[in-house]
Amino acid sequence: MGNSQAGKTLFVAGGSSGINLGIARCFAREGANVALISRSPEKIAIAAAEIAEINGGRAIGIAADVRDYAAVEAALKATHDKFGDIDTVISGAAGNFVAPALGMSANGFKTVVDIDLIGTFNVLRASFAFLRKPGASLISITAGQATRASMFQAHVCAAKAGINMLTQCLALEWGPAGVRVNAISPGPIADTEGMARLATTPEAEARVKARVPMRRYGTKDEIGEAALFLSSDAARYINGAILPVDGGSGCGDGAGDALGNFGAASYS
Ligand code: HXC
Ligand code: NAP
Repeated sequence: MGNSQAGKTLFVAGGSSGINLGIARCFAREGANVALISRSPEKIAIAAAEIAEINGGRAIGIAADVRDYAAVEAALKATHDKFGDIDTVISGAAGNFVAPALGMSANGFKTVVDIDLIGTFNVLRASFAFLRKPGASLISITAGQATRASMFQAHVCAAKAGINMLTQCLALEWGPAGVRVNAISPGPIADTEGMARLATTPEAEARVKARVPMRRYGTKDEIGEAALFLSSDAARYINGAILPVDGGSGCGDGAGDALGNFGAASYS
C-alpha cells in the first residue's frame, strides 16, 4: 500500500477482469478513486466491490459497451460527477478468438475491430472533456500483434495496429493541452482470458514461454506497475510511446537459434 495516487481518479474501460482489473487493483492500493466499465452488469459490480475493499469504498462499476459512444460518455460523466477530474484512463476492452481469415465472417472481423479500435477511439475521445488538464495520462492497451503478423489473428492484428497509430495521433493533438497518450503492449500474461484463448494446452504454454527471453509469463501486477509509472510524474515527458511490458518477447524472434529452436541456452 502507498499513497502515490491519493486524491487521483482512474477510469478503466474493460475493467471487470484480467489485466485491466489488475491495473485497477494496483491504482487502488496506491489510494486512487476507481471507476470501471464493461458490458456485464454482474461482472462489473463484483469487480467494483473488490476494488472498494482495497481503497475504502471509492470505487464504482458501470455497465457500458465501448461500442456505444453515448454509454461511454455517460459513464465518464458519472465518474466525473462523483470523483471530479479524471487523472488516468485505461482503454483495455478487447475481444479475441482464434480463427483463420477464411473461417471468419465479415461480422466476426468487424466485431473485434469495433471493440478494440473503435472502442478505444470512443473511450479516449469521450474522456477528453472530463480530464485533469494539464496532467492527465491516457493509456491504450495494445499487443505485440500490432506490429507482428500472427496466424489466425488477422482481426486482432489489424485492430491493435490501429490502436498504436490512434494513440500516437492523439499524443500529437492533445500534448499541447498537457494530456499524454501512451500505450502499454503486454506480453503473455498469466491467468488471463487472453492466454486461455491463445495457449490452450500445457504444451502450447511451454512453447509461448520458450519464446519469451525472460522464459515466463508476466503478471497483472507487472502491467499495473507500468501503468502507475506512465501516470506518475517520473513519466511527465513520455508521450506517444508504445511501451512493451513483455519480458523482451518483441525483440527479434525471442532469442531462438537460426533453426527456430527455443530455450536451449542455459546460464546458471
Ligand atoms: C469465428 C467467431 C468466433 C470464432 C465469434 N465469432 N467467435 N467467428 N470463430 N471462434 C463471430 C460470430 O460468429 C459473429 O459473426 C461475430 O464473431 C460476433 O460474435 P458475437 O458472439 O455476436 O459477438 P459479441 O457477443 O460482441 O462477443 C465478442 C467476442 C467474444 C469477441 C466474439 O469472444 C467476447 O465477448 N470476447 C471478450 C473477452 C475476450 O475475448 N477476452 C480476450 C481478450 S485478449 P456472425 O457472422 O456469425 O454474426 C486479446 C488478445 C490480445 O485481446 C493478444 C494476447 C496475446
Ligand atoms: P479479459 O479479461 O477478457 O478482458 C477484457 C475486458 O474487456 C473484460 O473486462 C470484458 O468484460 C471487457 N469487454 C469486452 N468487450 C467489451 C465491450 N464491447 N465493451 C466494454 N467492455 C468490454 O482479457 P485480458 O486477457 O485480461 O485482456 C485485457 C487487455 O490486455 C486486452 O486489451 C488485451 O488485448 C490485452 N492483452 C492481453 C494479453 C494477455 O496475455 N492476456 C496480452 C497482450 C494484450 P465484459 O465481458 O464484462 O464486457
